[in-house]
Amino acid sequence: MSLIKLYVENPDKYTAYQMARPDYSKAVDNVLEFAKDFVDSQERKNVVVTDFCCGPGETSRRFADKIGGLHRAILIDKNPRFLNMAKNARIKASSVLTFCEDTLKVAVKKEADIVFAIFAYHHLSDDKKASFIHKLQGAIKENGILVVAEIYLPKAEIAKYYTYLYNSISESDKSSGLKEFLDETAQSSTEEFKVTKDFADRQFLAGHFKMVREEKIWPLDNSLGNDAGTYVQVFVSTKI
Ligand SMILES: C[S@@+](CC[C@H](N)C(=O)[O-])C[C@H]1O[C@@H](n2cnc3c(N)ncnc32)[C@H](O)[C@@H]1O
Repeated sequence: MSLIKLYVENPDKYTAYQMARPDYSKAVDNVLEFAKDFVDSQERKNVVVTDFCCGPGETSRRFADKIGGLHRAILIDKNPRFLNMAKNARIKASSVLTFCEDTLKVAVKKEADIVFAIFAYHHLSDDKKASFIHKLQGAIKENGILVVAEIYLPKAEIAKYYTYLYNSISESDKSSGLKEFLDETAQSSTEEFKVTKDFADRQFLAGHFKMVREEKIWPLDNSLGNDAGTYVQVFVSTKI
């Protein structure tokens, strides 16, 4: 099975489904915390965020709220329904720019203090991942950071991950349609291209990114092995 129906049929249910997941909800909390730590440590003002594969824009919206507003939010997603939700998300920013485009084709300026790639990298097929990393490089201004949230798995462990994930969600959070969404996500061969952490780490390094912070998010019992699961990582560019 390939299609993840929710992305076209029910995008309004996306955030509720994702927030029921212990991997996704904790990862986004960490993303926001790591990004805020960066802003605070550098005493950055007029913060510009570029959010690749932004979905409904919730990460940028929550981050803007957390730091009291952004100078600019630049949101990119190829799904017009998601991007419309992002446009209407009332992101606290002096300006919000939206690009309904393929992330590899979008023309972005090198202006972001913080680039978000939140569960984005695995949406690019393996042959396009290096170009995606190159695109991320092109969006970060000097001394900015890239924050990545990602699920790293060997292909053979994907079904196990999603079964374990569904079983970890409390009964009260198992709303109708959630299982179907997770099953379709696990089985998709046209929208999901997960790779191992080792593969990704090497690719980000080859793309001139140095990892400066990392946290494993889920599962923490190592049932899938040390290097498999959801991670949040912060990178700086070594190119500038
Ligand atoms: C798992 S969602 C993540 C959304 C959001 N970052 C979040 O954390 O909720 C992946 C998003 O990537 C978008 N996407 C996938 N491939 C894309 C591409 N080539 N160009 C632009 N957006 C893409 C999808 O439309 C979807 O909104």
